[in-house]
Amino acid sequence: MNDPRFIQNLHDLKPYFGSEKVSMQGALERHKSLLALVRMLSKEKNSPIIKILEIGSWAGGSALTWAEGLKRYNRDKGRILCVDPWRPYIDTDANPSQIYQTMTDGLNEGLIYQLFQHNVESSGFGDLISSCRGTSKDILPLFQDASFDIVYIDGDHVFEQVGEDIQLAKRLVREGGILCGDDLELQMDECDVEFATNQAKEKVDYVEDKKTGINFHPGVTLATWDEFGRVSAWNGFWAIRKTGDSWETFDLDHEKIELPQHLADAIEETNRTTPMAKICGEMENYNLVHLGDRYIGIHQKIGLIDLFDEPVGLRELSPIIFVANSMEDLQNKIAKNGILSLEVNRELLSGIINKLPLSEALSQFCKEIIKKLLRKAGR
Ligand SMILES: C[S@@+](CC[C@H](N)C(=O)[O-])C[C@H]1O[C@@H](n2cnc3c(N)ncnc32)[C@H](O)[C@@H]1O
Repeated sequence: MNDPRFIQNLHDLKPYFGSEKVSMQGALERHKSLLALVRMLSKEKNSPIIKILEIGSWAGGSALTWAEGLKRYNRDKGRILCVDPWRPYIDTDANPSQIYQTMTDGLNEGLIYQLFQHNVESSGFGDLISSCRGTSKDILPLFQDASFDIVYIDGDHVFEQVGEDIQLAKRLVREGGILCGDDLELQMDECDVEFATNQAKEKVDYVEDKKTGINFHPGVTLATWDEFGRVSAWNGFWAIRKTGDSWETFDLDHEKIELPQHLADAIEETNRTTPMAKICGEMENYNLVHLGDRYIGIHQKIGLIDLFDEPVGLRELSPIIFVANSMEDLQNKIAKNGILSLEVNRELLSGIINKLPLSEALSQFCKEIIKKLLRKAGR
């Protein structure tokens, strides 16, 4: 455990979202869509109490956002039920990246469920959020038809599981209600169909599309397409509205929606407390850097300076940035996949832009790298 905020927040009874336990999941911008959706339904006035079912809650990041939506736009009138087994679910053979092993370890140790409970209790939203520990398959059949205004699917992203979650959830949405979910970066008519279908069937969670160079979740792309064709989508958050016997796309107004408080706090705290990087040496054109709990190899073409005030390396940007949990693992990665020269070209740069990682701070940082590379290339 190396993020000092983690222990500090547990001790101070404050929610924790950050790099520890991968507790900050997904792109932050998407949380604005959750808030916008609650605002839309609350304006329609036919939902005095908004009932939300969430499939897949992890450390509670999205559950707190829903709760904040109810507070901001519906006078706290509503509730969120979180369904999650909080047990290991990722196929780490099909998905060998370090991030999946870290997630699996956190679930195995029971820490993610504890963190979910801590985050809910310490957020002040405990009265709005309840949880059922079990799989969607075990829990969802227990509810009556049309029990919820919103059903949000963010569980296992393997194709069969997303498809099953959609099937289980459809019945539970009331007339005019919304079925929605996370991690639809590309719809099937935007990506390489054959590649997406094969990757989805091989249970790959997250991969770069061959056609667009955008990183996406093939299981979510294939499952939503199979069920609905095109759905409404904003920055990877997808949704569709129950209208009589069919499901329809709709517009969502994001104007004047600010990030929820727990994420705004997390960004502010991260920026304030991120440890400084230490340069430990070099290997094959990479600088070796120790930053908090991570070892990071950064291609020297990017340069030594400027990088180390920033929270680098939540995700790998191979072959420019490698991330590992030990110096030995880092050196092995560089030996295997490192490159000698780094050609600065538009394709490489757009590839990096599309891999922009978890936090807004880090996205901003990657943009800075890219600007710097462009300057070096004289563009
Ligand atoms: C991507 S995380 C959810 C992130 C969360 N919504 C957030 O925004 O922070 C996926 C979650 O789905 C859960 N999960 C996996 N399989 C599930 C299933 N069959 N039913 C319900 N939840 C499942 C996992 O335990 C994990 O907590």
